[in-house]
Amino acid sequence: MTRDKKVLVVGGGGRCHAIVDALSRSPQVAKIWCAPGNAGIGLQAENVPLKDTDVAGLLKFAQEQGIDLTVVGPEAALSVGIVDAFRAAGLRIFGHTRAATRIESSKEFAKVLMDKYGIPTAAYRSFDGFEEALAYVNARPFPAVLKYDGLAAGKGVVIAANAAEAEAALRSMLLDETFGKGRVVVEDFLTGPEFSFMAFVDGERVYPMPLSQDHKRAFDGDRGPNTGGMGAYTGLPFITEEDRAFAQKEILEAAAKAMVAEGCPLSGVLYGGLMKTPDGVKVIEFNARFGDPETEVVLPLLESDIYDIFSAVAEGRPAAQPVWRNAVTLGVVLASKGYPGSYPKGFEIQGVEDVDARVYHMGTKLDGGRLLTNGGRVMMVVTEGADIRAAREKVYAELAKVRCDALFFRRDIAHWALDGKLLDGKALSGSIKEDLRERIGKLEVKYGRKPSLAVIIVGNNPASQVYVRNKVKTAIYLGMNSRLITMAEDVSEAALLEMIDHLNRDPELDGILVQLPLPKQINEARVIDAIAKEKDVDGFHPLNVADLWLGRPCTVPCTPKGILRLIDESGIDLQGKTAVVVGRSNIVGKPVAKLLLDRNATVIIAHSRTKDLKSVTLQADVLVVAVGKQNVVTGDMVKPGAVVIDVGMNRDAEGRLCGDVDYTEARLRASWITPVPGGVGPMTIAMLMENTVECFLARMDSK
Ligand code: AMP
Ligand code: GLY
Repeated sequence: MTRDKKVLVVGGGGRCHAIVDALSRSPQVAKIWCAPGNAGIGLQAENVPLKDTDVAGLLKFAQEQGIDLTVVGPEAALSVGIVDAFRAAGLRIFGHTRAATRIESSKEFAKVLMDKYGIPTAAYRSFDGFEEALAYVNARPFPAVLKYDGLAAGKGVVIAANAAEAEAALRSMLLDETFGKGRVVVEDFLTGPEFSFMAFVDGERVYPMPLSQDHKRAFDGDRGPNTGGMGAYTGLPFITEEDRAFAQKEILEAAAKAMVAEGCPLSGVLYGGLMKTPDGVKVIEFNARFGDPETEVVLPLLESDIYDIFSAVAEGRPAAQPVWRNAVTLGVVLASKGYPGSYPKGFEIQGVEDVDARVYHMGTKLDGGRLLTNGGRVMMVVTEGADIRAAREKVYAELAKVRCDALFFRRDIAHWALDGKLLDGKALSGSIKEDLRERIGKLEVKYGRKPSLAVIIVGNNPASQVYVRNKVKTAIYLGMNSRLITMAEDVSEAALLEMIDHLNRDPELDGILVQLPLPKQINEARVIDAIAKEKDVDGFHPLNVADLWLGRPCTVPCTPKGILRLIDESGIDLQGKTAVVVGRSNIVGKPVAKLLLDRNATVIIAHSRTKDLKSVTLQADVLVVAVGKQNVVTGDMVKPGAVVIDVGMNRDAEGRLCGDVDYTEARLRASWITPVPGGVGPMTIAMLMENTVECFLARMDSK
């Protein structure tokens, strides 16, 4: 094969950089030009100072240079008919004709097409009259999806939550003509994860690319304004092969056939913006081009020669099925602070040459030897890994080498793939409580009375008040008998002990709980000792503690018991794994350690001020942190893939509840992690209820 092909790429963002990068791996390609290109593209191609919509200029350039193949990136160039003009002049070009580009440029054309050919999408109607559109929207459930019909650079879609928002949007689309004269498509609101499915398409021939997912919102947790895309990755775990095969056949191939039948065959990239709804995969939108930033994560996986694919499609002849590497990629966009609003430009970016990953430039400029920011989205760093976690670990490590104060980026790219890994104590405790409720109903029938719990609170510490009320309320919800006994702050130890003695002898009472901490005139240990072992639902009594350590039947303390349930939820097999417990309290750290030992884990109990705590926590397959101090464990102290249980309950500087673990950072490395609140806390209450039922059963059965 001779390296003699000359290629012109039309466009200039990160997407075109990825196309240029893929072309530069072709053994046939001798030289690449890019119009207008950018600073990064300029390292791999020769930038040509022509606008992407300057069809006449581009055509002249291609003829003069003897270009073998032109590849079009942006939709703007396609919709002004660059492909039609090049073909008329007898030049080879990869991209759709103007007529075929309508699948993207006209929302109504796409909807009619899908309707006619049975391609799954949201139900819709289209309007050009304001009154008519408003009446239709108001007669249907909210939210309503309003799409301006015409290319509006992603700004043409409004999700209206209510009638007022819908009216304002319709007014600006149909009366104010903000977007130019047009029509509005009103469609039903769909739910589910969105993903992108691109394919090279030539008439009815469809060559699928790996699936990917974009992140459109500016900030972590999918918050903030919509952007052109803040990151993307491949290897979506929530889309099954069945979903993918369905989408290929019923969506991409069906659309390709439909376009042929309509007399405007596709000859470029078809991009399906899809959603996995409860009723199956449906189309949100079609694009007639490579997606951005999806292309930057998809094309690096291509092992075949992209020049072969482009030229086959451009000539309308079959291509070999493209071969893709069996790995995943993940890319994070570095954007100018202020984007997608206004932002200053021209800041120096340093350290890019140290990045050991693909760097695609989006909006950069060279000034002498200095690299400057020159756009909203500035560059994208893309890594490859055996799995998403590995790719993400690497991308953030490489990103850290880029030095520029004027940039920001999202820390949670691929969260849709990893978010399932939340150990949701609220949900788990909810289902445990529902089971208990059912069981308690049956117990009453069988034994003729309900389990019964007494909760004693001394004084009026507000946090304790909340805890005890919650416990009593839960017991009542579950159908137990429950009483709250309130004693004054200055009550004597003797009076409290007398009350406990009284409750110990009550034959109708199964559980006694004294809310800790107690005022200083009272010796806590003596109070705990006074509770009858068989009514000690907290599992704090020395006889229960002794039995736990001796491996005899006992009441297992609530928080440790709940923690083990959460660890089990992760599905980890503890046998032979290393568990690290940070915090050595009698009510959490030590009993958790014992329970983990009983499951054949290797256990390390560590003091929070252990010298080089990080080297200890980094060994943990299971990490339990129960110290009561914010950020005892930072993200870098978590072993990748660990199960992390955060028992802490603290307030941060802004007064928000937080745990002992830096959740935002740790969840990027953990395979499973508990949130605060909503992790261990709700489990403790559920276990208290379970213990009360167990104490009840033990007493009834011993009679
Ligand atoms: P589009 O410009 O068509 O990609 O729409 C922008 C975004 O609006 C999409 O990425 C979706 O998040 C959302 N969207 C569009 N149509 C719908 C729909 N029918 N139901 C729910 N969300 C939608
Ligand atoms: N990533 C969305 C698009 O390219 O339209």
